[in-house]
Amino acid sequence: MKRATGLVTVAAALLAGAAFAGETAPQDVKFEDLAVNASLSGGAGDPVEGANVFKSRKLGNCLACHANSDMKSELFHGTVGPAMDGAGDRWEPAQLRAIVADAKEVFGEQTVMPGFYSVNVGENVREDLIGKTILSAQQVEDVVAYLATLKE
Ligand code: HEC
Repeated sequence: MKRATGLVTVAAALLAGAAFAGETAPQDVKFEDLAVNASLSGGAGDPVEGANVFKSRKLGNCLACHANSDMKSELFHGTVGPAMDGAGDRWEPAQLRAIVADAKEVFGEQTVMPGFYSVNVGENVREDLIGKTILSAQQVEDVVAYLATLKE
């Protein structure tokens, strides 16, 4: 029995490795015409997970800057950026992916929106954060899938 459990653990580790195999590293993301065409994780996003990334302070914290009528039950909606209502009408998924991955590539250097899948986050970054992105490739795909559902 012990041996079987070991094999299951090995199989799970291999599967977890495979999940990362199709992933694009932040420095390899290709921006073309203000869009990123390929999925960053190599797979599809989950809009339910994406809604969580959007509102969670520990993840995207997007609600801190963007109001969103789809999340009426949340108390605080920021107004630094435009409201997210109809974002899925205004932008193609490839454009939403570019905005979330690195807003500077779309709106220019002066934007206050963070680059959520960028290692280009400026100087004086805490040592333990160098090379890390705010969101994982899959979390970006999830939030993009969620934004695509916001239609008016
Ligand atoms: C610090 C504030 C801030 C945060 C946090 C932030 N944004 Fe933004 N965002 C902006 C601003 C400001 C703009 C408008 C572009 C500009 O002028 O820089 C914008 C623009 C956008 C747009 C295009 C707006 C439109 O509909 O025309 C989308 C989509 C977007 N943000 C999604 C997100 C998502 C998703 C997150 C979380 C993962 C997020 N933003 C987090 C400030 C922010």
